[in-house]
Amino acid sequence: MHDETAHTLKPGPDDPVLVGAAAALRDGALVAFPTETVYGLGADARNGLAVARIFETKGRPSFNPLIVHVMDREMAGQYVTMTREAMVLADTFWPGPLTLVLPAREGNGTSSLVSAGLDTLAVRVPAHPVAQALLRAADCPIAAPSANRSGRISPTRAEHVRAEFGDTVPIILDGGASDVGLESTIVDLSGSEPFLLRPGGISKEALEAALGEELVAPERLVSEIPTAPGQLASHYAPAASVRLNAGAVDVGEGLLGFGSKLPDTSGPVVNLSVHGDLREAAANLFDGLRMLDAAGVSCIAVMPIPLAGIGVAINDRLQRAAAPRN
Ligand code: TXA
Ligand code: MG
Repeated sequence: MHDETAHTLKPGPDDPVLVGAAAALRDGALVAFPTETVYGLGADARNGLAVARIFETKGRPSFNPLIVHVMDREMAGQYVTMTREAMVLADTFWPGPLTLVLPAREGNGTSSLVSAGLDTLAVRVPAHPVAQALLRAADCPIAAPSANRSGRISPTRAEHVRAEFGDTVPIILDGGASDVGLESTIVDLSGSEPFLLRPGGISKEALEAALGEELVAPERLVSEIPTAPGQLASHYAPAASVRLNAGAVDVGEGLLGFGSKLPDTSGPVVNLSVHGDLREAAANLFDGLRMLDAAGVSCIAVMPIPLAGIGVAINDRLQRAAAPRN
């Protein structure tokens, strides 16, 4: 750990590596860590300079607020007001791929950069054991966006983080491939009715069943006006262009397939799920886009993905990947 090169570390339980990473985090360093959704680029949320380094490293517009990762519901309550609905959703889905936007507690100690000056905070309790162990060892709230350069594909493996940042992120904790593979579902509970800001690992139907009421959701998957400040239309973009609902593959295209019947092609193919399993497809999505990029195709043809359950979140990410770029 004493040379100048970057480290990708695979921590076991009670590993000294975790203790070292936690100490570095508390010292103001950035630590990339695995979660069950995607890898995060973490900083101590109370340290404005460390949080600023996240924006700088990602090249992210600073108006875009960050999610605060905490150990459990009690810790969340130190930073936000846990409303009745928040308690219900936390009981049902935490730890897990759900982020709640709630009224920030005054004087909660997090840097104003985290909330980008809003009077709400987004909080989440990740389930991944390495994320949990890091939170426990660091004993501080961790502000973390996905560990990718702004506008690019979110990382689902430690190697993806290394490919995004090289040596500019010295500590990357390797916890294997992310199970869910898509970012958390974000529900805004700070207004008069619950609002689905971002579809993700937990479906709208599952949330509504837990809440016993309907969720207001964005009408279109990709709106022209950003709903969450970070919901810019072009996002999750691979280097290649992306063509959706493809029934056939053109010359020079790579194929992102789904199911057992794929169109003919002599180009590179990644099948998200041979069995047509949407959870498996979600877990493979970002890795698949990266693999086709690495194969050097100029365009990625994507087969239709059903709009059910987590398929809604998959289609949301694909539409952003295909959106016009600026
Ligand atoms: O699964 C995830 O959520 C991953 C892992 C690392 O936890 N994180 C993630 O962070 O996807 P990020 O920064 O890429 O996306 C966070 C989203 C952004 O769209 C941001 O605008 C929104 O959350 N957000 C954060 N705080 C908010 C707030 N107070 N009000 C509304 N939206 C907020
Ligand atoms: Mg992101």
